[in-house]
Amino acid sequence: MVTKERLLINGGNPLVGEVHVSGGKNTSAAVIPAVLLADDVCTIENIPDIEDVHALADILVSLGAKVDYEPGVHIRIDPRGIDGWQVDYRKAKKLRASYYFLGALLGRCGRAEVAYPGGCKIGSRPIDQHLKGFMALGAEAEERGGIITAKAEQLLGTDIFFDMVTVGGTINVMLAAVKAQGKTVIYNAAKEPHIVDLANFLNSMGANIKGAGTDVIRIKGVPHLHGTTYAVIPDQIETGTLMIAAAATRGDVTITGCIPTHMEALTAKLLEMGVRVTDMDDAIRVRFQQAYRAVNVKTQVYPGFPTDLQQPMCALLTTAHGTSIVQETIFEQRFRHIDELSRMGAQVRVMDRTAIIEGVAQLYGAPVTTTDLRAGAALLVAGLMAQGTTEIYELEYIDRGYEHIEDKLRSLGADIHREAFI
Ligand code: EPU
Repeated sequence: MVTKERLLINGGNPLVGEVHVSGGKNTSAAVIPAVLLADDVCTIENIPDIEDVHALADILVSLGAKVDYEPGVHIRIDPRGIDGWQVDYRKAKKLRASYYFLGALLGRCGRAEVAYPGGCKIGSRPIDQHLKGFMALGAEAEERGGIITAKAEQLLGTDIFFDMVTVGGTINVMLAAVKAQGKTVIYNAAKEPHIVDLANFLNSMGANIKGAGTDVIRIKGVPHLHGTTYAVIPDQIETGTLMIAAAATRGDVTITGCIPTHMEALTAKLLEMGVRVTDMDDAIRVRFQQAYRAVNVKTQVYPGFPTDLQQPMCALLTTAHGTSIVQETIFEQRFRHIDELSRMGAQVRVMDRTAIIEGVAQLYGAPVTTTDLRAGAALLVAGLMAQGTTEIYELEYIDRGYEHIEDKLRSLGADIHREAFI
């Protein structure tokens, strides 16, 4: 008999207090595969205890690495024994970031075979730009039968111009190019904080990468990368989710250990709604001060409003006064949370990639199902705001990306617990 888990939230408690943000999921997802490129042991601190990290560690072990993982403390990876270059379907399908083993294995041994990655179903998510980048570096790369193969005798630095801004493509090409012979310039690169973090991590191993955080990244290939000790940046999407939850429950929460400048697009929107937000050096305080106004949100690449916060933001806007228009420009199908919010009393119409949200006075608890990671975050926020009990199902999505989230919310006064059911 299979036992599953659900979250039960009795909504309505304002969140109050202080909470510490965990290390970044998407930065860990890039930095952990990057260890393959090192000649020696790397220790990475601030790695969150989430399912995506467990899945990445599993892949490393299957390739021959030694992994010593102390959840919430550090992960120590010895890549010296790596002799594999294949990541099979059962491992790759667990998460999107499995595709970073393509760039990392190509950079390490000139050969990679990785099953098409899994991850959240939020649109078609092609990887043509990754393959274009590998081929520009001189690799043969193709996707056939659900397997992506890339190989090269010698990767050669070159100019690469992405057709669109892609976070994954930028990271994968950085991984492949860092030990290529000569100079690689990536134009139209993504500028997300975790691109900068990956560049800092690789540079701490002896790489020569300049310009990360701008749309032109210049990489001078080096023959070897040494081991390092590095702490990844805090998770800006967890920070944002907690900021939204604090606002949604009309609470008063200080989120510590975060980087306020990473949160500017969200902070600006919350201020526009009438939420009180105070930035400190490495903390943000979010407080209720007046009834919220509806606002319009358009997702964009960094430093614009992040697509990963669009879904929890929709939950917050369901009870703002007036009509909010939310446009999703990055992924084609990132509104699957709306049906679930509607079950809780939200008034939302979705037309193509736009959600029109008419603010209502109150959401009501209901049984709801998570369809992807950030849809899960939206349902958490909605459950905390709602009157009555919300049951959230399919928690594996939430567990992929949020570290001990119900403990954190409970420490702020939320009435939330996890229970098993058959
Ligand atoms: N795209 C292409 N071709 C490509 C690559 C991307 O058409 O070769 C398109 C995508 O279909 C999408 C857009 O370009 O429409 C942007 O995709 P991007 O490559 O930037 O996203 P990603 O690498 O697949 C990462 C994060 C996502 C986050 C996005 C955008 C990881 C593991 N995933 O995805 O995180 O939403 O960047 O910031 O880092 C999440 O954390 O919930 C999550 C989905």
